[in-house]
Amino acid sequence: MFPREIAYQSGFGNEFATQAVPDSLPEGQNSPQKHPLGLYTEQFSGTPFTAPRSQNRRSWLYRIRPSVTHQPFSQISSKLFASGPFTQVPPTPNQLRWDPLPIPDEPTDFVDGIVTMGGNGDPALQTGAAIHLYVANRDMTDRFFYNADGEILLVPQLGRLRILTELGIIDAAPGEIALLPRGLKFRVELPDGPVRGYLCENYGLQFRLPELGPIGANGLANARDFLTPTAAFEDREGRFQILAKFQGALWAADIDHSPLDVVAWHGNYAPYKYDLARFNCINTVSFDHPDPSIYTVLTSPAAVAGMSNVDFVVFPPRWLVSEHTFRPPWFHRNVMNEFMGLIFGAYDAKAEGFVPGGSSLHNSMSAHGPDAETYERAASADLKPAFLDNTLAFMFETQLVVRPTQFAMDATIRQADYFECWQGLKRNFREFARESKS
Ligand SMILES: [Fe+2]
Repeated sequence: MFPREIAYQSGFGNEFATQAVPDSLPEGQNSPQKHPLGLYTEQFSGTPFTAPRSQNRRSWLYRIRPSVTHQPFSQISSKLFASGPFTQVPPTPNQLRWDPLPIPDEPTDFVDGIVTMGGNGDPALQTGAAIHLYVANRDMTDRFFYNADGEILLVPQLGRLRILTELGIIDAAPGEIALLPRGLKFRVELPDGPVRGYLCENYGLQFRLPELGPIGANGLANARDFLTPTAAFEDREGRFQILAKFQGALWAADIDHSPLDVVAWHGNYAPYKYDLARFNCINTVSFDHPDPSIYTVLTSPAAVAGMSNVDFVVFPPRWLVSEHTFRPPWFHRNVMNEFMGLIFGAYDAKAEGFVPGGSSLHNSMSAHGPDAETYERAASADLKPAFLDNTLAFMFETQLVVRPTQFAMDATIRQADYFECWQGLKRNFREFARESKS
């Protein structure tokens, strides 16, 4: 059974080696002819066999039964869990914003509670990403999930997730993120009650740490702060179900044992979590704004150098010290597409309306920036050094336009009056030439 304590190994993409039972991890080879404890050997590949060494990801699992021992899959209803290609409604150039998704009254587990807001690309083409919200009020006990369409980046906003995976257990609380590799089986328990959060399903290349360029060898998210669980397994038999997301649809298969039966494993294809409070935030100490790419925690590159399929970007508590500078995020238009969420506190570009658990979407070239109240306040603020406290916002920034789902456009949580927040921006231009002539 799973041990009560949860333990982690530190590093990003390391060659980890871990066993829950002594002598269950073979020494010196991957697949011995006969395992000394009678475990099956299984390779779990996250990249093509011939991927460059720096990107190659695979793990060797030593498990009670091989993964292949399950009944056939049948397609099931996916409720509001939608997938690319996203063609339900035409995408809109309008700025969009939503209130938090309410916690449901009816029993809802983690998979039942996934609601898709939009996305781009297509899992069939292994490009793009889907953006979901999740809410849940019930543990997954007898069913397990894996996603063949992409890796899962979880951003808890309310309540802790206990994610019991094939490779060990991750506890992820608000302020932390968790990444579950493509194909990894897991179930989710809710040790503190109802949960809510954001979920990025990355169909493209795996998330990795961004290059640091002139920043140097340290900074932003440091590799040692990523935590991968040690081996932990459950030896349970009974009537269980495996859910699979495969090519946009949900499938279910019966299985007579828990698939979380990996006793030992080694390799570099594994889940991890990261505490966003560990993010080494870099910013100006003179004037103006660096581009928000300085806030990148993880990036999934696109095929073209410098473009990303999806970036995960975080705006943490930080000092604001820039001189003679408009300090909040400036007005801008961006070829990239920006889906934002708020984990806690307030966001410095909006006076109201963007609340923890809420979301906004500013698609390609759709203008956005501080609202009228924030502009007025920041333009006349006394520019002493100030600590921006009690805030944790994030962004999924994507190369392709985020195409909303029908739910996202029609839901009562959508703020139809979002555009009003900019309508109070006054004309301030002083026409010196005309005034001097009169
Ligand atoms: Fe923006």
